[in-house]
Amino acid sequence: MRKKIIAGNWKMNNDISGSINLITELKKGLNEKTNATVIVCPPFTSLETAQTLLKDSTIKYGAQNMYYEESGAFTGEISPLMLKSLGCDYVIIGHSERRTIFNESDELINKKIKSAIKNNLIPIFCIGETLEEREKGITFDICERQVRNGLEGISETELDNLIIAYEPVWAIGTGKTATSQQAEEVHLFIRNLIEKMYSKSLAEKIIIQYGGSVKPENAKELLSQPNIDGALVGGACLKADSFLKIIEAAN
Ligand code: PGA
Repeated sequence: MRKKIIAGNWKMNNDISGSINLITELKKGLNEKTNATVIVCPPFTSLETAQTLLKDSTIKYGAQNMYYEESGAFTGEISPLMLKSLGCDYVIIGHSERRTIFNESDELINKKIKSAIKNNLIPIFCIGETLEEREKGITFDICERQVRNGLEGISETELDNLIIAYEPVWAIGTGKTATSQQAEEVHLFIRNLIEKMYSKSLAEKIIIQYGGSVKPENAKELLSQPNIDGALVGGACLKADSFLKIIEAAN
């Protein structure tokens, strides 16, 4: 049985006071008996706030991005060591907004994943096709390319904790969710691919989250699919109430 993991990607939202409010409300509202692992990914500027407020909480936190070098002349970048010093356990890597707006390549994403693993951060590795790619019928090819390139040169033991997030680009922030069948089909494809690339045991244990307009209304249906092990939530994680409902749906 894989444990469900529900992660909130705050994106570029919430200053310090907004972050204090949201984390405080989440802590207050979280059912202590929840079965899911809950992660919040605030912007870099609020990670210290998360560290302070989540010290005694079961809620974990992580960053939305990082650079792969550990230090040096990389103006504006944040290193894995810096994230570790803020107590982060997780880091989102390869989000479609990073790929499209900031031109991140599979090769760069691969370097970031390797660096995160080396520094004991658990990568939440995002993949997914665009609408055009889906309409052309090449969803599986795109996902396979992203998985193979992103994990290039990474051994099975190094992948012990890595999380994959399947996020169809056309469903992110658009209100259009993949149907549970559309999502399940790709999740199964990814799991089979991991089996081909590594082993059955890794394929059986690897967590594959779904992301793209997950909300309280569709969370239960998505999360009840056999190969959907959690959610990476954007818009609906910015309100404690809706994020808590999604966590509840994972139970
Ligand atoms: P969304 O974002 O839930 O707002 O669609 C998901 C994501 O980008 O991770």
